[in-house]
Amino acid sequence: MADWKTWETGCSACQKCALASTRHQVVLGVGPKDAEVVFVGEAPGENEDLQGEPFIGRGGKLLDEVLQTVGLSRESNIYITNIVKCRPPQNRDPKPQERDACMPWLCEQFSLIKPRIVVCLGRVAACSLINPNYKVTKEHGLFFEKDSTLYMGTFHPAAILRDPRKKGEWVADFQALRKKIEEVCQLIVFE
Ligand code: URA
Repeated sequence: MADWKTWETGCSACQKCALASTRHQVVLGVGPKDAEVVFVGEAPGENEDLQGEPFIGRGGKLLDEVLQTVGLSRESNIYITNIVKCRPPQNRDPKPQERDACMPWLCEQFSLIKPRIVVCLGRVAACSLINPNYKVTKEHGLFFEKDSTLYMGTFHPAAILRDPRKKGEWVADFQALRKKIEEVCQLIVFE
């Protein structure tokens, strides 16, 4: 299995799909590399592609705010990454072949981090990691165990920006996450 250095060098130079020709940079992820909880979004947007960090636009700010209400942050105790590590032009959904090409990078990233809990932000992440027929509106906030890792799906921050009426359910998912962390994680220190 690769070590972090090899993984970062390989992923940063990846040419496995056409997004390599339009990206400014590969957006690897942010947060402690031994985090017990990993959040996975869809793909970088324009700001992320320019600055090299996931979730730094308006949606990212909203995500940081809700994380803070349950004692979590990218600075201290969670890792954040995406299913696809390069920006799709015009922020379109990543194509199936782009997700497939990128999935080995995420699998190696999981092997290096060894998270106890993976939180999928939105349909693309939840359908890729939990179940291809996953329905966020029906199944958000539920935990599914696979290979000793717990997976939970919830709304993507962009969905909350589009429809703020979902915010109550979203916050409740983060509270359920905090409760689950208290049950199953060992090392996490809440802020
Ligand atoms: N949306 C995502 O899914 N990921 C990001 O990093 C930014 C926006």
